Amino acid sequence: MAVLKAHKVTKEFPPTTKDQPVVRALDGIDFEMSGQSFVSMVGPSGCGKSTFLNIVSGVETPTTGSVDVTADGGGAARLGYVFQDPRLLPWLTVTDNLIYVQPKANKKLEYVQPYLDLVGLTGFEHMYPAHLSGGMQQRVGIARAFSVEPDLLLMDEPFSHLDAITARGMRAELQRIWARTKRTVLFITHDVIEAVQLSDRIIILEVGGRIYADIEVGLSYPRLQTDPAVATLQSEILQVFEEMESRRASKDPRIAAKAGGESTTA
Ligand SMILES: Nc1ncnc2c1ncn2[C@@H]1O[C@H](COP(=O)(O)OP(=O)(O)O)[C@@H](O)[C@H]1O
Ligand SMILES: [Mg+2]
Repeated sequence: MAVLKAHKVTKEFPPTTKDQPVVRALDGIDFEMSGQSFVSMVGPSGCGKSTFLNIVSGVETPTTGSVDVTADGGGAARLGYVFQDPRLLPWLTVTDNLIYVQPKANKKLEYVQPYLDLVGLTGFEHMYPAHLSGGMQQRVGIARAFSVEPDLLLMDEPFSHLDAITARGMRAELQRIWARTKRTVLFITHDVIEAVQLSDRIIILEVGGRIYADIEVGLSYPRLQTDPAVATLQSEILQVFEEMESRRASKDPRIAAKAGGESTTA
């Protein structure tokens, strides 16, 4: 497990052409997470979710502020990633995709097999990614991420390319795996429903890269879509999300005109 501390993180991207303004992707992101927590960062497209994840993983650096990630016992944290697309190496079998990311001592079937079993890939060890469905490929990606025994697992919209039924199954499975493996997870999604089902805390980001709400989710696991308490909380948080979106729409003259909304230039 890991401790993540984000301190007033701001990220600006230079304009792509001369007549465009600087893009402020993140604006003062400030929060901490640690232990066996599952935190979702939810927000509309373009609100800076992936940028934040890239800063956590060190791919990007913040313009101002800082993100520190340390292992629970101190020292550098090991990170695991699951992306929107599984990013498997097509010329390697399922097993070899996992073995590939291991340090020398763990480069053997016996080491990776439990992780394949964990995601229900037993019997598929010697298949190539091209022969697997999208859902199964994503399972390989998840097994690979868990197989490095990460202190912090970063997931960027991992189920958004899957069909609804497969995605639902994967969410159920992820809850089960997370309960068994005790990881700190930062999960990115644009889907409030998904966030409520998976997370013990939800951070809602608004466009411009600011935290709009930070909500503790007190429901027990496993959370079933059919549980009325889950459905009620989903609809409450969806309301918060929609309020945020309609506020943005009423501030943006282009969106307001399209939606027939009122002008705020009173
Ligand atoms: N490398 C980049 N160069 C310029 N602008 C970028 C870059 N990466 C992201 N952005 C901009 O930053 C904002 C946030 O992007 P992103 O983090 O990808 O959002 P999200 O993942 O929430 O959809 C967007 O306006 C996007 O166009
Ligand atoms: Mg993104």
